[in-house]
Amino acid sequence: MNTKPEIDKLIEKYKAKKGVLIPLLQDVQSIEGYLSRENMKYIAEKMGIREAEIFGVATFYSMFRLKPLGKHIIRVCKGTACHVSGANNISTAIRNVLDLKDDEDQTADGFFTFIEVACLGCCSLAPVIMIDDKTYGKLTSEKVSQIVKSYYK
Ligand code: FES
Repeated sequence: MNTKPEIDKLIEKYKAKKGVLIPLLQDVQSIEGYLSRENMKYIAEKMGIREAEIFGVATFYSMFRLKPLGKHIIRVCKGTACHVSGANNISTAIRNVLDLKDDEDQTADGFFTFIEVACLGCCSLAPVIMIDDKTYGKLTSEKVSQIVKSYYK
């Protein structure tokens, strides 16, 4: 995917402002769901910034993702309502189904990306997850395991 024309527009939007690197990187990330090395290098060249500086910002902040997203994205709410309703058990059940180690957030086949988020905005359904745009609430470990497995069928 050639993202350079979109990046050029974003650089044009931000270039006259100070302290724009983080919002610029956020906007660039929204194009493909992550910041590729190629795009970071391109931004560095166009903005006259050292590539290492961009890479440093991108790796410092957890909001930036440096690898492509999986086919499906599982968002597990870790907000207060979900936390007290067993969100940790839900996370563990999903990680077990996906065979993810603690430091992994994506299945080896790229089918699922696993992300923990602060609040999905439907606290009355706690504990809650979203898979892509679909919300699942009032979960148990058993229920969420079945839901995740159903995506492989
Ligand atoms: S705390 Fe989980 S949806 Fe709000």
